[in-house]
Amino acid sequence: MKIKIYGAGSIGNHLTQAARRMGWHVTVVDTDPKALERMKNDIYPTRYGKWDDSIELCIAGTEKRGGFDIIMIGTPPHVRTAVALEALKEKPKAIILEKPVSFPFDPKLKTLVSRLKSSRTLAFVGYDHAVAKSIERVADILKSGVIGDALTLDVEFREHWEGIFKAHPWLSGPQDSYLGYWKRGGGASGEHSHALHLALYLSRVAKIGAWKDVRAKFQHVKKGKLDYDAIASFAFDTDKSKTGRVIQDVVTKPTRKWARIQGSNGFVEWVCNGHPSGDVVRYAGADSVIAEEIIEKKRPDDFHAEMLHLDAVLKKKIKPAASPLAFASGVEVLRILERARKAR
Ligand SMILES: NC(=O)c1ccc[n+]([C@@H]2O[C@H](COP(=O)([O-])OP(=O)(O)OC[C@H]3O[C@@H](n4cnc5c(N)ncnc54)[C@H](O)[C@@H]3O)[C@@H](O)[C@H]2O)c1
Repeated sequence: MKIKIYGAGSIGNHLTQAARRMGWHVTVVDTDPKALERMKNDIYPTRYGKWDDSIELCIAGTEKRGGFDIIMIGTPPHVRTAVALEALKEKPKAIILEKPVSFPFDPKLKTLVSRLKSSRTLAFVGYDHAVAKSIERVADILKSGVIGDALTLDVEFREHWEGIFKAHPWLSGPQDSYLGYWKRGGGASGEHSHALHLALYLSRVAKIGAWKDVRAKFQHVKKGKLDYDAIASFAFDTDKSKTGRVIQDVVTKPTRKWARIQGSNGFVEWVCNGHPSGDVVRYAGADSVIAEEIIEKKRPDDFHAEMLHLDAVLKKKIKPAASPLAFASGVEVLRILERARKAR
């Protein structure tokens, strides 16, 4: 498999390493020569032990076009759809857009959605948590029926973004990137939109009903040009008269990435990195006996799970529309953010 990755930043490194772990050939493209240098001499060797000479690095404009199986787009959100539209012209088997798929009210998103409809290229979104082993386990528990009928669902991705800035020491703060601007896909609502995506996915698996009304609250930081939401909370009702809640923020320390579904007989709960060696899944059925499982992982394993999933879809072992990473699920998140912004 031949992979091309746009963006040599934090996610570009994760995706590259995960693809190399699959034995795939990787070309990485960036507009910024310093980003390519940083990838080779700093981020990749620091994270994964050493640089891998088989990885090809290209300045944007000099990269090969055509002949790639998958094109992954790990640029900032506000340039993503433009890069995706170009990538589609190469007719790869699949494209993956990082999260969030773009930014609220992106005029190019409609064009991309319609081009994808008439294209043979499959499209996905990089909400990797949805295909993590621990979330697969949560899905299996829900499907087993042990918790009874789902009554309510909560997801939180609350993480102070100092961690992001530690991973990007070349940025002096949110003002230096899309992160400080909700209109470019930043802020808690865009950056931690894993939570909305996971809540939508688990709602489908738990059969809690389709979301029909979402009420959002944003706590904004406005300083000079900076304009982002530090806290975004969403309350939803479903067409089965159930309710749920999603909270995303960039202020909570220590981090809390958590999901819980309460059922008529029991519950299931997921805590990302809830144990030093990985994620925790807890559940109980009608007997109220709480079972706890630790699903061992390190962060690179999440991206490896994403690659294994994509490989299975391309090998027709999983139907593209049934994938938790289906592109439509990423568009759904963005549409919720847009409706919430319009309602303000
Ligand atoms: N799935 C995840 O868990 C996960 C993890 C980290 C980041 N992300 C997402 O990935 C995106 C990028 O985040 P990051 O932390 O890697 O940012 P980053 O700033 O570290 O890297 C982005 C890179 O894209 C490059 N770039 C910009 N325009 C380009 C273009 N047209 N062509 C090629 N390269 C271009 C920039 O020069 C930069 O090097 C964000 O949307 C972020 O939310 C997702």
